[in-house]
Amino acid sequence: MPATDPAVLAEAIATDGCVIVPGFLAPAQAAALRDSALRRYAAGAFHAAAVGRGAERQLRSEVRGDQVLWLGEQPDEPEQALLDRYEALRLACNEALMLGLFELECHYAVYPPGAGYARHLDRFAGDASRTLSAVLYLNDDWQPSDGGELALWLDDGRVLEVPPTAGTLALFLSERFWHEVRPATRERWSVTGWFRRRA
Ligand code: OGA
Ligand code: MN
Repeated sequence: MPATDPAVLAEAIATDGCVIVPGFLAPAQAAALRDSALRRYAAGAFHAAAVGRGAERQLRSEVRGDQVLWLGEQPDEPEQALLDRYEALRLACNEALMLGLFELECHYAVYPPGAGYARHLDRFAGDASRTLSAVLYLNDDWQPSDGGELALWLDDGRVLEVPPTAGTLALFLSERFWHEVRPATRERWSVTGWFRRRA
């Protein structure tokens, strides 16, 4: 089975709690999705990302400097293709881990040069529903000198550094893995999603 097969990924999550998947999207698919993001961005649909939820919600650009747009209402073809892949992943994870994932929320994100997201867990205080985080990168020809890595703290204290290269997917259990976005020298595009359970 290919390394991008949903059952293989679910098995990796069951074993390690996280998996990095280069080539989750083929180059043409990643490029099509980036075009969709750029088109929506040009139409003015993105807004500054907030930190926290409900009464805790705040705009704090020193913590998180990205602009986002939630996917959903009217997905175009590349967006729908991604949502279909994620649906297969959701079902495979429920089968392998019995996580009871029932829904996906996801947004595009663009970080301007110099912006990052300080070390955090993808869990809001008082809301345990975010269970599996999925970050998919859309950046062509990313060089080590461009920075912008996702840093992921593993259980043994090692830090995994993932370059945000087009087509790479980072999947990790939301309550277990601290992570941060390092500032980049270029614009940094991604789709960030969370599979949620009823909590
Ligand atoms: C997030 C996040 C990681 C990334 O949006 O919560 O941690 O690499 N994103 O963009
Ligand atoms: Mn995060």
